[in-house]
Amino acid sequence: MGGDEMSFVREAFATNWLSTVGPNITAFEREFEDHLGVAAVAVASGTAAIHLGLRLLGVRRADLVVCPTLTFAATCNPVRYLGAEPVLIDSDARTWNLDPNLLETALQDMARRGRLPRAVVVVHLYGQCADMAPILETCGRWEIPVLEDAAEALGATYRGKPAGTLGQVAAFSFNGNKIITTSGGGMLVTARRDWAEKARFWSQQARDPGLAYKHSELGYNYRMSNVLAGIGRGQLRRLQERVGQRRAIAFAYRRAFADLPGVSMMPQAAYGFHTNWLSCFLIDEARFGVSSGEVIRALDEAGVESRPVWKPMHLQELYRAAPSYGGAVAESLFLKGLCLPSSSSLTVEEQLIVVNAVRRLVGARELQRIAREPLGVSAPELVEAGARRG
Ligand SMILES: Cc1ncc(COP(=O)(O)O)c(C=O)c1O
Repeated sequence: MGGDEMSFVREAFATNWLSTVGPNITAFEREFEDHLGVAAVAVASGTAAIHLGLRLLGVRRADLVVCPTLTFAATCNPVRYLGAEPVLIDSDARTWNLDPNLLETALQDMARRGRLPRAVVVVHLYGQCADMAPILETCGRWEIPVLEDAAEALGATYRGKPAGTLGQVAAFSFNGNKIITTSGGGMLVTARRDWAEKARFWSQQARDPGLAYKHSELGYNYRMSNVLAGIGRGQLRRLQERVGQRRAIAFAYRRAFADLPGVSMMPQAAYGFHTNWLSCFLIDEARFGVSSGEVIRALDEAGVESRPVWKPMHLQELYRAAPSYGGAVAESLFLKGLCLPSSSSLTVEEQLIVVNAVRRLVGARELQRIAREPLGVSAPELVEAGARRG
């Protein structure tokens, strides 16, 4: 927490605005709009924002929706909530995000089969925007709308434009681990004010105007609470600071591992500003001598929690049958990827523990190598030499 959150939460309690209506919600949406320049709707989670966003784009039962395979399940699950099916596309190794060339190939193939997707979902992974220009160009040619899953990318930019303002609709997450948090929550954003109003209506059980409980459309209980919106207002004020902290942590790891063979930071694409929400690295086992899985285990033994990169959706039981294009890049990123502790509250001392635990593996690997090498002297000779030294 940054310090201002409690005063907004206290105000909510003092004025008894404790439900999903109240001044903090209205103000949080307005402040978010001021920040991004597009209309904002505060909801209960990023997943809810994706669900509402897909519905705004007209996704219905039996539709196809393109999604990157390398993502968290919450990107694809709302596609299924609507009775549609994701089509999974591989990553571009240069950004880890949706591969624009493969998207073009996939859309051509889908057009040939006479079944274009209703929408394309782009994920800005770990705080870095996907390469939006070619993606938007391709989708524009086929008149397919784009939803940005910007859950992990608040504060990132693409060619000077903020993540979340590039497609037709976007979703942010304020889950506890995100760059700013409301403990749990999300925001749907769109340049279309009529869409924002529609999403707000659906998020409140789609209750028709008037006092009588009349419903003509299907709604959800997806509105953010006024208490949590108070946390969000305080957090939003700290966004720039948080981005700075996340980047400082990621680049400190990069400097600390600069001399280690086979350890490389997630690419930083020149077209944008990467928040490095999580500090992600690739471990090339052939060069480092230890796999990313072994690094995770060693960190765990040192009392440090780290994580692999997202397990691609095409490898998941849930989405194994979904159509897909490619997948080898995402699989390799999953096998080699490592997310290190990245919280903005991480202290220098704590980061040193992480760095030392990784660096110690180099020493351990050296010792193993030496142990395997022939000594060049026999055991009795060693005993004799030891005896001579006393
Ligand atoms: C890429 C991605 N999409 C969607 C979500 C879902 O957000 P939430 O947890 O707020 O529902 C998350 C994070 O949790 C995420 O990382």
